[in-house]
Amino acid sequence: MPIKRSLDQPSSLPSKKAKSLVCSEQQKGEHPEESLRPSSLSEYIGQAPLKQVLSVAIAAAKGRADTLDHLLLYGPPGLGKTTLSLILASQMGVQCKITSAPALERPRDITGLLLNLQPGDILFIDEIHRLNRVSEELLYPAMEDYRLDITIGKGQGSRIRSLNLPKFTLVGATTKVGSLSSPLRDRFGLIQRLNYYTVPELIEILERTANLLQMPMTPAGAHVIAMRSRGTPRIANRLFKRVRDYSQVEQVNPISAELASKALDILNIDPKGLDQSDRLFLQTIIQQFQGGPVGLDAVAAATGEDIKTIEEVFEPYLLQIGYLSRTPRGRVATQAAYGHLGIDWSR
Ligand code: ADE
Repeated sequence: MPIKRSLDQPSSLPSKKAKSLVCSEQQKGEHPEESLRPSSLSEYIGQAPLKQVLSVAIAAAKGRADTLDHLLLYGPPGLGKTTLSLILASQMGVQCKITSAPALERPRDITGLLLNLQPGDILFIDEIHRLNRVSEELLYPAMEDYRLDITIGKGQGSRIRSLNLPKFTLVGATTKVGSLSSPLRDRFGLIQRLNYYTVPELIEILERTANLLQMPMTPAGAHVIAMRSRGTPRIANRLFKRVRDYSQVEQVNPISAELASKALDILNIDPKGLDQSDRLFLQTIIQQFQGGPVGLDAVAAATGEDIKTIEEVFEPYLLQIGYLSRTPRGRVATQAAYGHLGIDWSR
C-alpha cells in the first residue's frame, strides 16, 4: 500500500469553510501553532537575499506612504510564504487577508474579497497557479488599476460595471511558478524565490522553537532533527513536536541526539529526511523501471501516488539532494539514490 503524505502537500480540495482569513497581530497569540511564526523580518531566520529585497521594498513604500508592489513568492511548500506575507502586513501596519486559489471557485468569491479590502491591505492568495480563468481575469484590472470590472446580467443585455478598489498589495504564493500564465506573472512587481534552508538555519529555527515551547534540547539533538527536516522549517517544527512527545513519554530530557534519532527512527524518517513514500518512489524507479528514465505517469501509476504530490512534494527535495534527475526522457534515480537505499548500482 502506498503511504499517502498529507502534511506538506497542498490540499487539492477547495475548503468551503476556510474561504479566507484575516490575520492581525492580536489574533496570532491565540493559537500555539501561530506563536511559532516569527513576527518580524529581524526574527525571521534564513532567506537572507529575499529578506534584503523585502526590507528595501518596505522602507521605500513606507517612505512614500505608499503600498507595497504586488509580490509573487515561489518555491517548495513549507518554506514560509504565508509567514512572510503576515510579516509584511505587520511591518506595513495593515491587515493580511489570507485565501487560496481553490477557495476562489466562483467570481463572487474573489469579488467579495476585493470589495472588502481596506486601503493598503495585503491579499494573500496561496496556490495562485490554480486560479481559474474567470477569477484570474478579474484580478488583472484589480492589480493594475485597482478597478473591479463586474458583469451585470447575462447574454446580450449584459453590461460591465467598473468599481474602484482601494490600493492594495497582492501577495501570490506558488509551488509551480511555471504554471502561472504570463499575463498574471507580469503583473507582479516583485517575483522572489524561497530556497531550501541550510542545516545551520534549521538548527537556529529549532532552537527558537525549543525556547518558545520551553523544551530543553542539546545542540546535537537539534542537529539530528535539522538533518532530517528536508530543508523545510515546517517539517523541522513538526518533527520537533514528535520528538518532544517521545521525550515526554520516555521521560527523558533534554532532547539529545540519541533521543531524537530514536524518535525519528520510529516514525520511519531516515537520516536524510526521507520517509517511506520517498523511498518507495525511488525504489519503484530502480526496481520496476531499471532506474529510469521513466515517465511521471508510469511512476505515479506504479506507486499509487498522484502526479501533483510527486511533482510538488517528493521531487523538489530529491532533485535538490541529487537522488533524482530529470531528463527529456523521464526521471532517473541517481547513483546516490542507489547508495542511500543500499541497492547495488552496477546490477
Ligand atoms: N519558524 C518557521 N520558519 C521560521 C523562520 N524562517 N524563522 C524563524 N522561525 C521560523
